[in-house]
Amino acid sequence: VPLRALNTFGVDVETMMMAQIDAIEDLPELFTAIDEIGLSWLPLGEGSNVLFVEDYDGIVVRANLKGTDWQGDHDGLARVRVGAAENWHRLVEWTLDNGMRGLENLALIPGSVGAAPVQNIGAYGVELDRFIAFVEAYDTRERRLVRLPASECGFGYRESRFKREPERWLVAAVEFDLPRDAPTVTAYAGVREEIAAQGTDGTDPRAVFDAICALRRRKLPDPAQIGNAGSFFKNPVVPGLQYAQLRDAFPDLPAWPQDGGDQVKLSAAWLIEQAGMKGHRLGDAGISERHALVVVNHGRASGRELWALAQQVRNAVEARFGVRLEPEPRVIAAR
Ligand code: EPU
Repeated sequence: VPLRALNTFGVDVETMMMAQIDAIEDLPELFTAIDEIGLSWLPLGEGSNVLFVEDYDGIVVRANLKGTDWQGDHDGLARVRVGAAENWHRLVEWTLDNGMRGLENLALIPGSVGAAPVQNIGAYGVELDRFIAFVEAYDTRERRLVRLPASECGFGYRESRFKREPERWLVAAVEFDLPRDAPTVTAYAGVREEIAAQGTDGTDPRAVFDAICALRRRKLPDPAQIGNAGSFFKNPVVPGLQYAQLRDAFPDLPAWPQDGGDQVKLSAAWLIEQAGMKGHRLGDAGISERHALVVVNHGRASGRELWALAQQVRNAVEARFGVRLEPEPRVIAAR
C-alpha cells in the first residue's frame, strides 16, 4: 500500500498492510487480528512526524477517531475531549472560538490531536503537557483501553511514555483542561516583536495566535509546499560543565539552562548552521535555507537519502562541537 501521500516528507514508500478503524470499540478486535498476523504495527495520523527510511514490513494503523466535545467547566477550566484523528490546528482555532485559552502558542503545528501527546508538542514557551488532563489509549500489552492521567504519561521535552514504548500504545483521544482566564505567554523574543509589530499588547490570545501564525509562516517551510517534518533534531541538553567549555570556545552559542541549572539546552539550529550545514544538499534531500533544524525534500528524495543527509549533519555537528544530535521524528527503518 503506497504511503507517499500519508507522510509530509512525501517519501515514496509502501507498507505491507494497512488497517483502519472508525470506532473506539473496534480497537480490541483490531489488535487481536494484528497479534494473529504477527507483524509489527505503526500508528499513522497525518504523517507529519515520521521519516520512512524504507518500505515498512508491517501494518500501518489509521485510527479514524473523531469528535470534539466540551464536557463542562470545573475550577475555571474547560474540559474538552478530542478524538485522535482531529486536526491539531483546527482544534486550536476551535478552543479560541469557544473562549478557551492556552493552546494559542501551539498554532499551526502540523499533525493530528492523537500525535500531539506522543511527542509532547511545544513551541514558543508552551509545552502541551500542561494542558493535558488524561490521554485515552489502547494498551496492547494489557489489552484494554486505559485513561492515563497526565502524571502517568511520562511527559518530557518532546518525550512521552507513548513515544518511549512504541507498539504498546495507540492514542484514541485526549482530554484537555483549558483555562478560561489565564495570562498569555509572550516571553519568547520573536513573539514579543511580532506582537509589537501588530500594534497590540498581546494580552488577547487571538493576538498571540495571529503572531505565532505569522512567525511560523515566515520562519518555517510549509510541508504542503516542500516536504518536511518540522524540526528534525531535538535541541540537545548537555551537562553544565560541557556547556561552560563550549561557551568558552563559542561565546555566541544560544543556550537555556534547564530547571536547576545542572543541564543546559542548546540550539541545534545554531550548531547545524555553524557547522556549515544550513542549505546543504544531498541530491533532493537538504537542510532548509530558512531554518537549519528542518530537513526538507526538494523533490524526489528517498527516505534513505533524507536519512543519509541527517547523518551527515549529525556527524558534522559532532565533529565540530562534540555534541550528538538526536532525531525528533520517529524514524522507521529495518533493525
Ligand atoms: N538559529 C540558527 N539558525 C537557524 C535557525 C535558528 O542559528 O537557521 C538559532 C537562532 O539563534 C535562534 C535559535 O536557533 O535564536 C532558536 O531558533 P528557533 O526560535 O527557531 O527555535 P528552535 O529551538 O530551533 C524550537 C522547536 C520548534 C519550535 C520553536 C519555537 C525543537 C526541536 N524545536 O526550535 O518546534 O517551533 O522552538 O518554540 O524543540 C518542532 O518540534 O518540530 C518544532 C518546529
